[in-house]
Amino acid sequence: MEIIIQPTDEAASSIAARLIARLLRDKPSAVLGLATGNTPRMLYRELARMSLDWSKVRTFDLDEYVGLPPEHPASYRQFMWENLFRYVNIAPANIHVPDGMTKDIPGFCARYEGAIRAAGNIDLQVLGIGRDGHIGFNEPTSSLASRTRIKTLTAQTRRDNAKFFDSEANVPHHVITMGIGTIMESRQIMLLAFGEQKAHAVAHAVEGPVTAMCPASVLQLHPVVKIFLDEAAASRLTKVDYYRWVYDNKPDWQKF
Ligand code: GLP
Repeated sequence: MEIIIQPTDEAASSIAARLIARLLRDKPSAVLGLATGNTPRMLYRELARMSLDWSKVRTFDLDEYVGLPPEHPASYRQFMWENLFRYVNIAPANIHVPDGMTKDIPGFCARYEGAIRAAGNIDLQVLGIGRDGHIGFNEPTSSLASRTRIKTLTAQTRRDNAKFFDSEANVPHHVITMGIGTIMESRQIMLLAFGEQKAHAVAHAVEGPVTAMCPASVLQLHPVVKIFLDEAAASRLTKVDYYRWVYDNKPDWQKF
């Protein structure tokens, strides 16, 4: 794991954006796994500003609420349109977001997995993290080998995500999410976390034991993971000085 601590969320997002930009230049048909939530907004804004060619890029979103039509303002499809897709030249056929309105959830999930495989698997997966350590919508105790499937949200996640809805009562209980096993098959992963409210989950994920009680801790088993943090999100890590030194003293060929 590489821990990149920056003074602000803006600085961290801008480095993350540069890495994605480099991937899209090296591989114009790259397959990106994308996350929603407040955290990646700045990253997407930065990417939209970069005048990159998205015409061959394929994207797979991590998750979607069950029962929300794509045009619902809180749906993740809508989020992606508002925060990224409307600003870039991505082909609509190359955009994949789980279908929260499907009548056959298991069948849809199997097809979503098949589509990721058919695309050659995800080159780079963007992740945020929930306060309980969830990635995608894989809540604590999700199988670390899980695949795309339906999940039930915890009360805390529904409360945290109520900010995107008129009221907490309107937050769906069920979601479709890529599984942890699905996420782990990505060639590289970047996780972004900003703010003091994420510090506990970040400390568990990076320095705690690998456990389904903190799904993000499974990333310790992935060979290419970068964790982008602001100071507040890094505030509970014990080896902060080491992480900073590593980043500041990279050999030239490793710098980004
Ligand atoms: C939701 C999403 C996650 C996201 C998390 C954190 O649960 N499914 O992908 O990481 O929220 O959201 P935020 O970035 O708004 O804190």
